[in-house]
Amino acid sequence: MKIVEVRHPLIRHKLGLMRRAGISTKEFRELASEVASLLTYEATQDLELVEQTIEGWAGPVDVQRIKGKKITIVPILRAGIGMLPGVLELIPSAKVGVVGLQRDEHTLQPVAYYEKLTGRMDERIALIVDPMLATAGTLIATVDMLKAAGCTRIKGLFLVAAPEGLKRIEAAHPDIEIYTASIDERLNEQGYILPGLGDAGDKIFGTK
Ligand code: URA
Repeated sequence: MKIVEVRHPLIRHKLGLMRRAGISTKEFRELASEVASLLTYEATQDLELVEQTIEGWAGPVDVQRIKGKKITIVPILRAGIGMLPGVLELIPSAKVGVVGLQRDEHTLQPVAYYEKLTGRMDERIALIVDPMLATAGTLIATVDMLKAAGCTRIKGLFLVAAPEGLKRIEAAHPDIEIYTASIDERLNEQGYILPGLGDAGDKIFGTK
């Protein structure tokens, strides 16, 4: 599986700021979006281009534009919404399909309570966005949903990933690509990533 830990200095700096105790909602939200933009830049390096001749200011000029498969962004509720503005900043015309999952009390498996994907998923590249790749339970279920809808090119963008979750997603879906600003040390007993960011959803939405 392709796993990219994006080690650009701007990402390292911004992620460092996000790890501070007591960070404000405003600052965390802004940084989450900025890091999402930088991850998007990295994850779209391999988009195919086509040549085109257009009428330029001094006559015909050969230019390039992105070819073929259109992008759909898939934020996982709720925290994934915090990365959406940053991804849209670079790909403003992308369609957005939203998924929400919660853990079934009895089976402890993630179950979808909301799924509104864009049409023709077979023709699209999906960019899943979620700040934390922890146990990978919701990610695996989301990829299952996208594949069931016909999607064959799937990338996931995460601010922070845990080694345990990366192992699980690699075993379940080795064909997807993961882009993260940091592979952290481990999960704690409550399923939080260490050193991590704490509860990313609460920090983005100012709840708790
Ligand atoms: N979800 C979070 O918000 N934080 C973690 O560390 C793990 C899952």
